[in-house]
Amino acid sequence: MNIYVFEQLEDLYQAAAKRIIDKIKMNPYTTLGLATGSSPLGIYKKLIEGYINKEISFQNVKTLNLDEYVGLRPTHPQSYANFMKKELFSNIDILEENTFIPSGAASNLESEIRYYDALLKKHKIDIQLLGIGRNGHIGFNEPGTPFTSTTHIIELDPRTRNDNARFFKTPEEVPSKAITMGIYSIMQASEIILIATGSQKAYAVKEMIAGKIDSKLPASILQTHNNVHVYLDHLSSKEL
Ligand code: GLP
Repeated sequence: MNIYVFEQLEDLYQAAAKRIIDKIKMNPYTTLGLATGSSPLGIYKKLIEGYINKEISFQNVKTLNLDEYVGLRPTHPQSYANFMKKELFSNIDILEENTFIPSGAASNLESEIRYYDALLKKHKIDIQLLGIGRNGHIGFNEPGTPFTSTTHIIELDPRTRNDNARFFKTPEEVPSKAITMGIYSIMQASEIILIATGSQKAYAVKEMIAGKIDSKLPASILQTHNNVHVYLDHLSSKEL
């Protein structure tokens, strides 16, 4: 694992975004695996700047998102489809048909799972962007998810629902299930960039980097990937 610690968040986002920007410059047909949550937001801002400055174009870029809440339509304000549109896609020149997010509102979730796995087989991810949950989840792969998992439906951990309640009007509104890319699928990416900031992530970061490789802390599997870049601030790295 390559670990980088930054004093300033701005520098962290700049450095992580540069990896993605350089990759797109080298290969305009790059496939990105994208994440939601607050962690990647600073990177999305830098990618938008790169597009506005005409440094990069997303015309030929494809994106596959990690996950989505079950039961939320893409138009729901808290759906990850809406998040991606608002925070990235509507601000760059990416083609809508090149952006893929698992649908949590599909009437047949089993066929949605098969469809998403087929997409992942077809489009190999060049760079996968990840955040990390306080419990060490990646995507929505909660503790206990097998490392061999592909796309699946997961019952959200009460801690995750609680963490994400800040985005909903009431805690009860947080969906109890999600559809997520599996851990096996995440590990197929050629390169992985993980962002963690804030002291609430310090335990998960320590276990991910130095703990036992165990499905109880899903991100610990990243120790076995040969091209992982972890971007931390001083708070999230304080237990290392
Ligand atoms: C969410 C997402 C994850 C994200 C994590 C951390 O539940 N499914 O992909 O990495 O929680 O979110 P944040 O970056 O807001 O702390």
